[in-house]
Amino acid sequence: MPDILGDMRKTHTCSDLKADDVGKNVVLMGWVQRRRDHGGVIFVDLRDRTGITQVVFNPVVDKNVHTKAHAIRSEYVLGVRGRVEKRPDGMTNPNLSTGEIEVMVVELKILNIAKTPPFLIEDTVDVSENIRLKYRHLDLRRSQLQHNIILRHKAAWAVRNYLTKNGFLDIETPVLTSSTPEGARDYLVPSRVNPGQFYALPQSPQIFKQLLMISGFERYYQIVRCYRDEDLRADRQPEFTQIDLEMSFVGEEDVIQITEGMMAELLKNVLDIDIQLPFLRLTYTDAVGRFGLDKPDIRFGLELKEISDIVKDSGFKLFSDAVTKGGVVKALNAKGCIDFSRKEIDDFADFVAVYRAKGLAWIKAREDTWQSPIAKFFTDKEKESLTQRLEIESGDLIFFVADQPKVANESLGHLRNLLGEKLGLIDKNKFSFLWVTQFPLMEYDVTENRFKALHHPFTAPIEEDYGLLQEDPLKVRSRAYDLVLNGSEIGGGSIRIHQKDLQEKVFEALGMDRATYEKKFGFLLSALETGAPPHGGIALGFDRLVMILCGQSSIRDVIAFPKTQKAACLLTNAPSETTKAQLDELFLRVKAT
Ligand code: AMO
Ligand code: AMP
Repeated sequence: MPDILGDMRKTHTCSDLKADDVGKNVVLMGWVQRRRDHGGVIFVDLRDRTGITQVVFNPVVDKNVHTKAHAIRSEYVLGVRGRVEKRPDGMTNPNLSTGEIEVMVVELKILNIAKTPPFLIEDTVDVSENIRLKYRHLDLRRSQLQHNIILRHKAAWAVRNYLTKNGFLDIETPVLTSSTPEGARDYLVPSRVNPGQFYALPQSPQIFKQLLMISGFERYYQIVRCYRDEDLRADRQPEFTQIDLEMSFVGEEDVIQITEGMMAELLKNVLDIDIQLPFLRLTYTDAVGRFGLDKPDIRFGLELKEISDIVKDSGFKLFSDAVTKGGVVKALNAKGCIDFSRKEIDDFADFVAVYRAKGLAWIKAREDTWQSPIAKFFTDKEKESLTQRLEIESGDLIFFVADQPKVANESLGHLRNLLGEKLGLIDKNKFSFLWVTQFPLMEYDVTENRFKALHHPFTAPIEEDYGLLQEDPLKVRSRAYDLVLNGSEIGGGSIRIHQKDLQEKVFEALGMDRATYEKKFGFLLSALETGAPPHGGIALGFDRLVMILCGQSSIRDVIAFPKTQKAACLLTNAPSETTKAQLDELFLRVKAT
């Protein structure tokens, strides 16, 4: 078979040629974006990953080539040789980097034909995401996705460059491993040679990177795939990528500084944006108190205020009872929003119900009176205090939730984000980074009836709080920090426990008995006895970060081959059933469901 390319090779990309190149003989290769037949002259927009160049087939220049060009359709793959010419006056296209020129073709090779694609390869596609994912290789030809994937590459490159410069070593860690506790379910892989036994895919390289510190590598990084079987959302994939790093002989400040430097260099290299260092920091308690969430969007105000002290004896039983029962009453003043209708307010109440709020009380502050189902319950003194605390002015709409702190904060925190969006308070061009520090070491999981590490069980407690580990574990603060960007958690890390005794105490405080933690983490405990340096690190959600840099709202748009909400790949039909022979080999039988 003769090689279809012959001696034809690209000389330029489809975005290279400018007015300066007029007169050059060039070869371009790419896909047909569009073909237009203008009374005998055929114009083709030829596309590659860099852009589009108009190529022209003119019967006066070459009759045979022009005749051949009649066969061209959208998405055909072409190689063209021709001369760069200036476009006639009035025909230039200022929207195209190559808009001043066109290539007059003298040789055409149709390198491949293409069926009509199931959707047009254009910026705005009007098809369901499932169709796009089924034909992902075509979807990826669209310029937005090409832009996202190219930006992702640049970001990875900037990270590798920065970390290498700062003495970090890229060390790979296993994918077939044992369970790593990051709070999700594991993906399991059966072992053929060890019947009845399973590997777990790593939820993160957490334990390995700590072991690498114990091995003396001092600074490790990896841009690494992690696997978590959890409920999926727009910013969650079952397999996702972390920029994972770990450092020895450090405290919080060192990890924070390295990470801030990395973000600054990344934004500069990728988007040519200068960001201001250092980033703002809030303790977990302040973040949740003021914004309701541990990942606040600080691009706008609308802060929450606690009013429990003002309403604890009020005639509105829902409020006073909540406080008596150890709950709180929190409020959010939506400035100037008095014109929201009853229907809109009811919709907000439905919205907060998703976060388990039992109701959403409200007050509309009119010039002379408060319009509200609950205003009648307050004394003048209470009204006066509320006015001061919440800075109430005529025209304001104030929302209240009374509940346990977690519910009151979370529901109003999400309502705050919704209002920020609805009221146009968010500057979409801003990148607002924030560190949230001093997370609680653990929380109580009511569904599972046990203490759970908020980050993971290797996170060090703040030394001052060691004493509380046994008496009041929920009060123990940790040396963990999260990095938040525009209200999205893009990273989390901590200073680790590097002493065996303390690690055992924390396992015990988490309700694990010796036999359990020895079985699961005995190898780590014994490694901690072999000279473990103080160490700490962080992992950044690379997909989330790139999503925000690309201005996208789903991480699926920055992953070449993502999975659906049901963790399926529509392109390859994974997951799928397997053969009996394969199951037999793995000693597995599928239970009828
Ligand atoms: P953590 O569990 O917080 O920390 O994960 C780090 C970051 O990874 C991102 N992320 C995800 N992105 C997409 N899809 C998911 N399913 C998903 N889950 C998490 C988030 C998150 O902030 N080993 C620790 C890090 C450390 O302590 O050094 C860890 O994995 O942006
Ligand atoms: P009700 O007397 O139950 O009709 O409630 C009066 C108002 O209080 C309604 O607007 C409810 O949405 C609101 N409400 C009910 N429960 C709560 C709560 N836990 N926190 C705040 N508002 C509530």
